[in-house]
Order: sequence, then structure tokens, then C-alpha cells
Amino acid sequence: MALITSKEMFKKAYEGGYAIGAFNVNNMEIVQGITEAAKEVNAPLILQVSAGARKYAKHVYLMKLIEAAIEDTGLPICVHLDHGDSFETCKSCIDGGFTSVMIDGSHHTFDKNIEETKRVVEYAHAHGVVVEAELGRLAGVEDDINVNAEDASYTRPDQVEEFVARTGVDSLAIAIGTSHGAYKFKGEAKLRFDILEEIQKRLPGFPIVLHGASSVVPEYVELINKYGGEMPGAKGVPEHMLRKAAEMAVCKINIDSDLRLAMTAAIREQFALKPAEFDPRKYLGPGRDFIREIVRHKLVSVLGCNGTADTY
Ligand code: G3H
Ligand code: 13P
Ligand code: ZN
Repeated sequence: MALITSKEMFKKAYEGGYAIGAFNVNNMEIVQGITEAAKEVNAPLILQVSAGARKYAKHVYLMKLIEAAIEDTGLPICVHLDHGDSFETCKSCIDGGFTSVMIDGSHHTFDKNIEETKRVVEYAHAHGVVVEAELGRLAGVEDDINVNAEDASYTRPDQVEEFVARTGVDSLAIAIGTSHGAYKFKGEAKLRFDILEEIQKRLPGFPIVLHGASSVVPEYVELINKYGGEMPGAKGVPEHMLRKAAEMAVCKINIDSDLRLAMTAAIREQFALKPAEFDPRKYLGPGRDFIREIVRHKLVSVLGCNGTADTY
């Protein structure tokens, strides 16, 4: 199996009432934890790479790790640029073999967002690559940009048809109450299903993307908190709400913070048990194992995409 775009994934997900998991990757253990879980439950995957990840691990290393995961698992995998900040970043990822890019113009005016997205779409489509854009603004932290709750804004349904028609974009990220980062775990998010429904009505069959969708995995809160996590009495985005969104027009659900918390908790646990440990395999291995558990849970209980990988 070669790297694929998300086009067929989204069509199947829309029709099947489930969503594809888009998990952020930064190193080998994260790639392996995610892809091993997907292999176990026969799920397709989107592995996404942020500008920060490219800076940390280098584009070529992440590409080779993802290619290795495809060779190892035989799974349908799409490699996606998460929150592309400019045409240049998107172009560099397209030229470097990514099959999907996000151009995040959500901080621009409507017209400027359209202009920038359209430019990326033209280049991407000419190279067989698909594009995700964003309308509306999520609160939270992404790369070094911090969006306060007051500056966040829900997506306006009356803008979506014009945006999609004028840009030719392949999928659209919307703001309906999720937020980036771990701080959201301190309260309970309420998703505006009325907005999602209205968007779905205006764009029938069109794939919608949900960012900031880390939730609390109830079984793991205790372990994460025990080792200094940030989930005291946490609620986050309830998983049943994500499941409901996946049954609607949401075809891609982005998850990063949950994996960071899981990996870090497992590593902290190792150092608590064996403070003198100095073999990185002895603590990174449990970090990878915990990611595998969390991802398996997400694929089966939240996204519902398990058992669909061999339809490609
Ligand atoms: O939404 C942002 C993702 O969680 C990526 O985070 O930019 O720190 O790699 P990052
Ligand atoms: P979380 O911070 O909720 O994991 O969101 C990740 C995300 O949206 C990546 O684009
Ligand atoms: Zn995001």
C-alpha cells in the first residue's frame, strides 16, 4: 500500500457514519504506538505533522517513519500537514511527498482566508494533493499561537457554501466548541450540534473536520493525574459527543494532547518506579505502549473506524 490522500477515506467515513482519526506524530515511538493500534483493529489513519514537528524531527525523518509504518502494517495511511501557516509551508510539504495539507487562514478576514486557501488548493490539486481549510476560530494553543477564549469564534454557517465554492477546498475544519491543548480538560466542553447540523445541511456530503478533539479517556485519568498530568476532576470533550459528531458530517477528528499526556504519564511512572533508569528504551517503550492503548480506545469507541482498513 502506498500513501493515499484522504479523499476515499472521507467518502467512506461520511457514508459509514464514522470518522478517521488524525493523530499528530513527532517521533518513532508515537508513529509506532499509533500504527500498531490501528493494525490491531484494522483502521485507516491520518498521521499529521505540525510545523513544530517538522522543526523538531525534520520532514524527511517523519516521512521515512511513516513510509516504514506503511511497509510494516500495510494500512491505508494519509500524511497531512497540520495547521499550515502559509503557501510556502504547504508547498514544501506537497513537494516533500505529503498527500494532504491544511492551510489555516482562520485568523484572516473571510476574503483573505479565501484568497490564501484558493492559492494552496490550485497548487495542491495540480500535484494530486488534497486541502483542508478552517473557518471560525478555536480557542487554545497551536504551535506558538495562543488564542484566548474571547478571540475564539464559532463558524458561521451562512459563510460555508461561499467559502467552499470559491476555494475548491476538499474538507473544512469548523469551530463548534472544541479547543486546542490540555487546558480544556478543566471544564466540560459543549459542542454546538445546531451549528454542525446547519453546516451539514448547507454542504451535503462534504467532509467536516474537528480540531481540538482530545477528550478524557476515563480509564486513564487516574494514572495520568498520579504522575503529574493536568486532569484533576477533568471532563474535557465528552467522548459520546465526539461519537455523535462522527456519525454526522465530521469525517476527521484531530487528537494530539491525549497522546502527549499518555506518553508523558507512562514515562513519569517509569522514573517514579526506577529513578536511576538510564536506558531510553526502558521508558520510551512504556510511553509507546500507552499511546497504543489510548489510540485503540479512540479508534474503536470514539471514531468507529475500526474494521474498515481492508476496504481500500
Ligand atoms: O493543534 C496543534 C497540534 O496539537 C500540534 O501542536 O504545534 O505543538 O506540534 P504543535
Ligand atoms: P488537541 O489539542 O485537542 O489534541 O487537538 C489537536 C489538534 O487539533 C491538532 O490539529
Ligand atoms: Zn488543530
